[in-house]
Amino acid sequence: MMRSILLIMSFVEYSDFIQEGDVAIVYQSHDCMIPVKVQSGTQTQTRYGVIRHSTDLIGQRYGSKVTCSKGGWVHVLHPTPELWTVTLPHRTQILYTTDIATITMMLELKPGSVVCESGTGSGSLSHAILRTIAPTGHLHTVEFHQQRAEKAAEEFREHRVDHLVTVRNQDVCQDGFGVTGVADAVFLDIPSPWEAVKHAKTAMKRHGGRVCSFSPCIEQVQRTCEALADQGFEEISTMEVLLRVHDVRTINLPLPDFGPDTDAEKTAPTPTPNQASVTLKTTTPPREIPGHTGYLTFATKPRT
Ligand SMILES: C[S@@+](CC[C@H](N)C(=O)[O-])C[C@H]1O[C@@H](n2cnc3c(N)ncnc32)[C@H](O)[C@@H]1O
Repeated sequence: MMRSILLIMSFVEYSDFIQEGDVAIVYQSHDCMIPVKVQSGTQTQTRYGVIRHSTDLIGQRYGSKVTCSKGGWVHVLHPTPELWTVTLPHRTQILYTTDIATITMMLELKPGSVVCESGTGSGSLSHAILRTIAPTGHLHTVEFHQQRAEKAAEEFREHRVDHLVTVRNQDVCQDGFGVTGVADAVFLDIPSPWEAVKHAKTAMKRHGGRVCSFSPCIEQVQRTCEALADQGFEEISTMEVLLRVHDVRTINLPLPDFGPDTDAEKTAPTPTPNQASVTLKTTTPPREIPGHTGYLTFATKPRT
């Protein structure tokens, strides 16, 4: 007997169909996407006209093309941490996918990892961490700005990942992460990370783990590295990740003239100069790479 299981949308699990209460991403173009809370009786304005949630969204497959009231169309996508990062309401500076991917890899995050993070900010990194550590890991995230902490907690509920995360509204430099000896990894994105390094160490497991600090300025990096070394962290290294957008061009190159092919000349005519070229795609790397966001400093806490 075939049984159909109706999965519910969350940021850590995929469901096929759009349901009441979901958060869906309305894709209008590559640089125009909006997150929408799906509620029957509600409508959303797009650049191609209105979409009505009851008829146009609920019950449709994620990925569907939906025709709007003015005749244009949009795609309705299942949310992912990557789409959330480019559509979320900014309450702070946020981390983007280039840095997030490096952080995830270098902190060795995986399903089941326990992670501490501060500050929560707009929750851009938090969503990516949650997707990686699900279904058995946990994120302890600390934010000292009360409204930001509350808003992040509300979004985690709406995105159905709240069972994987604890939000604490406190100053990480004074009060730490609120946990001891549990974390596999700690991430810091605060103005004075060196003040939180000792709390990072306290939060981490006895058998050690990885820590990362994100800072825009090299002076912050220097102070953090000193604090990490003072606390006995090892393998301290700092990197900057920059996107290098190559300029792709189509060019025509003349074929090299290797001289007459005596055998071929007997059977084929010699090509005229304008036939003897080849069309190629080339890329040119940029001379300067803009887009500095910050430096990522990684370190390892050894077993104690
Ligand atoms: C740049 S934002 C973090 C952005 C976040 N990584 C993201 O991807 O959305 C920095 C946050 O740290 C918080 N913060 C700064 N110092 C803090 C501290 N000592 N304790 C807790 N939170 C702090 C700020 O209120 C702010 O929300």
